[in-house]
Parts: sequence; structure tokens; C-alpha cells
Amino acid sequence: MGKKVTVFGSFVVDLMSRCPHLPAPGETVKGSVFRMGPGGKGFNQGVAAYKAGADVTMVTKLGSDAFADVALNTMNKLGMNTERIFQTSETETGSALILVDENTAQNEIVVVLGACGNITDKEVESLSDLLDQSEYLLTQLETNVTAVEKIVAMAFEKGVKIILNTAPVQPISDDLLSRVDLITPNEVEAGILSGIKVDNQEGAQKAADYFLKKGVKNVLITMGSSGVFLATPQKRGFLPAYKVNALDTTGAGDAFNGGLTAALSEGKDLWEAAQFANALAALSVQKMGTTTSMPDREEIDTFVAEHGKGEW
Ligand code: RIB
Ligand code: NA
Repeated sequence: MGKKVTVFGSFVVDLMSRCPHLPAPGETVKGSVFRMGPGGKGFNQGVAAYKAGADVTMVTKLGSDAFADVALNTMNKLGMNTERIFQTSETETGSALILVDENTAQNEIVVVLGACGNITDKEVESLSDLLDQSEYLLTQLETNVTAVEKIVAMAFEKGVKIILNTAPVQPISDDLLSRVDLITPNEVEAGILSGIKVDNQEGAQKAADYFLKKGVKNVLITMGSSGVFLATPQKRGFLPAYKVNALDTTGAGDAFNGGLTAALSEGKDLWEAAQFANALAALSVQKMGTTTSMPDREEIDTFVAEHGKGEW
């Protein structure tokens, strides 16, 4: 097992419907499949990293309702540690309404964070001892940003390496950016945060420069089905995505971020870790659902053995 990883982020129950096309305002569309299951970017990433083999402690906040049980049951089934799951009776557990276009595999999501959007300073402070034991902190922007800012500041003080996935994109402070070891925006988020349009490698180069100037150590921009762009202080490169038939791309970014962190915690370098993460994303899009589509280590290793690692 690799070094300890803390994943700090959202949990919501995903309510997903597949439909022939995404409805226009005022339109009713007859869907084909409905599924309910665990989700939330934080939880998806935590489960992805754990199933890939990382030593993960998941931190999130739940209400005290039936949706909270979805999180706890999932974690118990997988054998994940639930010690740092906060619960409240004041706020409901979060939910996400997800529509997936069954022809294009594109999605639309409305997420209501509920409890995980109300993580208090006190709760974050209680994680001090956990951070003392952690080598990596993986977090996103799907909880309240005040909590993200706080845990990142604490982790930075303790020398924990911080991986920030900027989804869903929110304004963040320069202080936060300056503490980040690895930022992983998608092309849209990179564009919004940097003010530079990212629709090709040239745009990605410029956006990467923006983040590096803010003090971020490494920048990895995910560019959907085309691939990922990585900028480290030493070199830059582009890695194409695997060509697979996507059934549901929801949570593909989460699969990628979880895999990336798991690989880094095992001691792989960023270049190898991104190759590993690419395999998780490719596997996850071939299954319906988010958390439930995260592959286990055996599936990942088999996929890489069959399809190769991909070339930078
Ligand atoms: O990244 C996918 C996730 O975002 C879904 O699981 C949904 O919960 C949304 O928040
Ligand atoms: Na999926």
C-alpha cells in the first residue's frame, strides 16, 4: 500500500435518467432508464482512488436520512473507513439530478449539496491529526469553498501535497492556488479560471502558464475525449485519451482524478500517473453511473495490459 491519501469532498445521491435527447426548457422527454446511486465528485474520486488501491480516508458530510445510508452502505460494502464522515440532523444529504443523452453520452447536472455544502470550520479543524498522517490531500470545489480554503491551508502548513480538481468551477483565492501542488481543471474550468480560451493545446499551454505564475507547481488540464495536457516545471506534454465507446461520461473526470492520486500515492511520477488515470477514465465511461462505474485494480491492470499505456 502507498502513502496515505485524504479525500475531502462532496457526497450526493445521483438520480440519473437516460433520455433520447436533453430536454429544452418547457419540454418533457420520455426517458428509458432511471438509476439512483452514490455520487458527488468528492465521493466518486475517493472511491476511484480506493478501488485503484490507494490508502484512502474519505471526508464528507451527510445528513441523517435515507440518502446518508447510501454513502455509508457503499463505504461499508467496499471496506472503506467511515471514521471521518460528518453527519448532521440539520441539513439533508445532497442530491444530483443527472440527465444523460443516450446518443451522445453528454450530460446535464443540477447538484444540491445539502450537508456537504455546509462543512464547518470546526469540522475541518478536527482533521488536523488526519492530515498529520497524510501524504496527499485530494479535493474539489463541490463542498463549500470556505472549507476547501481552510483544509488546503492546514494541509499546506503540514507539508501535505495538495491536488485540487477545480470542479465545479468557483472563484478561488490566489492564496489557495499558491498552495496547490497539482491542479486538474478540465478545459472549460481552465478557461474560466485563467480567462484564456482552452480549446486546443496552444490554449492549454497559455492557461498552464497562468496557473504556474500563480504558484501552482504542476498543471494537468483534462480535455475530454481528446486527452490531457500536463505542464511540470521541467517539461510539458500531451497524452491522447483511449478510444472507447462511451456509454456515460458522467464521473469520468472523477475516475481520472482518483486514479491519478492513487498512482501518485504509490510513487509513480506524474507522467505515469496520468497514463494510469487515463485507463480509469476509459473504463468508467463504458459503464452507467458514477461511483458505481469506478473500476477495481484488476480491471485497470487488465485494460492497460490489453490497450497499452498510451504515449506522451
Ligand atoms: O462528476 C460527476 C458528479 O458530479 C456526479 O456524481 C454528480 O453527483 C455531480 O455532482
Ligand atoms: Na460512468
